[in-house]
Amino acid sequence: MRLDRATAALDPPFAVVDLDAYRANARDLLRRAGGRPIRLASKSIRCRALLERTLASDAGFRGTLAFTLPEALWLADNGLRDLLVAYPTADRAALRILADRPDDAGIALMVDDVAQLELIERAVAGSRTDPAGASNAAGGGGTGGGHAPPRPIRLCIDADAGWWPLGGRIRLGVKRSPLHTSEQVTALARAIVARPAFRLVGLMAYEAQIAGVGDRPPGRPLMGAALRTMQRLSARELAQRRAAIVAAVSAVAPLEFVNGGGTGSLELTRAEPAVTELAAGSGLYGPTLFDAYSRFSPLPAALFALPIVRRPGPGVATALGGGYLASGPVDRARLPRPLLPAGLRLDAREGAGEVQTPLLGAAADGLRVGDRVWMRHAKAGELCERFAELHLIEGDVIVETVPTYRGEGRTFL
Ligand SMILES: Cc1ncc(COP(=O)(O)O)c(C=O)c1O
Repeated sequence: MRLDRATAALDPPFAVVDLDAYRANARDLLRRAGGRPIRLASKSIRCRALLERTLASDAGFRGTLAFTLPEALWLADNGLRDLLVAYPTADRAALRILADRPDDAGIALMVDDVAQLELIERAVAGSRTDPAGASNAAGGGGTGGGHAPPRPIRLCIDADAGWWPLGGRIRLGVKRSPLHTSEQVTALARAIVARPAFRLVGLMAYEAQIAGVGDRPPGRPLMGAALRTMQRLSARELAQRRAAIVAAVSAVAPLEFVNGGGTGSLELTRAEPAVTELAAGSGLYGPTLFDAYSRFSPLPAALFALPIVRRPGPGVATALGGGYLASGPVDRARLPRPLLPAGLRLDAREGAGEVQTPLLGAAADGLRVGDRVWMRHAKAGELCERFAELHLIEGDVIVETVPTYRGEGRTFL
């Protein structure tokens, strides 16, 4: 009722963020982080206004975990600082722009392989980052303007946080960094400090098998129990290994930060003394994949409305559009889910369609052409790739309408 009143003048499809729920979710993330700063995962927000305001809202949110270098450069151009790019980049043009900027805006790049160091070195050759070309680049084309010291590129090492029980015969976790042991991470740290184009500033290890896997899958209690056991054992192993990695790397270079965790693991990751900051984003929007956790329950804050345009028959109401599937492995959990009116479900054969989404259930008979339904996305920021703006709702009014990344003409991935 409240959402309908707030948006009565709008024609769906449109997307909203319920600020009351969003702020409650932010408070809950901070509570779960227990005083450890949270770096905001921008991929899970994809709206500059919300990113900036959340960072300004509480000192407990500190820095941005960006998802591409062009995004980090764009955020830096808009005044953000302390930007950690969470995934390795091979974007030579963006690297060159970073190297030629008068300041680096606190951007740090993610690496886990000497091949990435070599790629970056080639991309920035002759720029102000390159020790061989720095004075040229800073001299403004030979006008004798000065000899600015080379400015090394800030790097963060990504260490694998997966769990490898039975001597590595089983490997649980995501396929990201090849660096699992302390020795492997330290070897890359040494390779970085040996190269003048770089400065090692951070370490990251994201435990996706804990943070990104809901331990209370609906209707599957045995699976939930098995997941909770796996996650407990994995967290115990990781705490020891992460501490050893941080100690070993710190002996090679002093680290500014050690980042770990995500929305799904804040209270577990913050218990590790070796971790200086956490990361989170999805918990602010509260998408459906985060309904399946035992330790917390975010409120649905990001929603989209679709118009009912047809009634194919009893028990079915068909909405226009709605096929906003989430990335990841193919399963039903990636589909959007109807929220209101309560009692609607997707059709198993048609799912959420490119142009039409049939909605089934008793509530369908109460819907007429021109009514609206409220839906939730399975993931957080991906919703913003479908809409140019988010209507921000407080109580039962829209207080502001802000552009998404897409609405600003930016689609990074
Ligand atoms: C490196 C990294 N850190 C943290 C997160 C957690 O993000 P969220 O809180 O949105 O789940 C992710 C998500 O994929 C990630 O890739």
